[in-house]
Amino acid sequence: MLRRLLVLLAVLSPAAARADDPVDYAQDIKPILKQRSFACHGVLQQKSKLRLDSGAHILKGGRKGPAIKPGDAAHSLLIERITDTDDDSRMPPEGKPLTAMEITLLKAWIDQGARYPANDVPETDPRDHWAFKKPLRPAIPKAKHAAWSRNPVDAFLAA
Ligand code: HEM
Repeated sequence: MLRRLLVLLAVLSPAAARADDPVDYAQDIKPILKQRSFACHGVLQQKSKLRLDSGAHILKGGRKGPAIKPGDAAHSLLIERITDTDDDSRMPPEGKPLTAMEITLLKAWIDQGARYPANDVPETDPRDHWAFKKPLRPAIPKAKHAAWSRNPVDAFLAA
């Protein structure tokens, strides 16, 4: 919470805050995007071919190209869309607009170079969970002691 206040201070009155208070992608940025955008820009849906569930996806962008320009929030499509005054094209299109704090953090993150950790991963696809997988009949291994196996299951025990 303190860092968010410092970042807000840094943007509202740069003189009053230390300029090197970096915005932390994992702590400050990903939670905002997860809550407000992954439903339409994540693993299950990619509206306008855009995913926002990892730093790499944000840089890759969607139909209109990269969603951000690292170091240049003012000319970043993502910022244009979340600050759009037209309700019909502002993102997210549903619910309340992002708060001033959320917009400030996103702008600061992009202006600071839009860094994200190397181990940043996109959402896992829930459809990949084994529970959603059609069970496949495995090949029966060649049993070492074929003499005493009475049932294909025995082959797995004796393999
Ligand atoms: C923080 C939240 C969000 C951000 C930053 C965001 C950002 C964007 C951006 C940058 C584009 C243009 C992508 C391109 O064409 O290359 C876009 C398009 C789109 N987004 Fe989002 N989005 C957010 C949330 C949502 C949500 C929650 C929905 C669905 C309810 C949604 C639905 C769409 C649709 C349908 C388009 C394509 C039509 C259009 O460009 O208006 N977005 N979004």
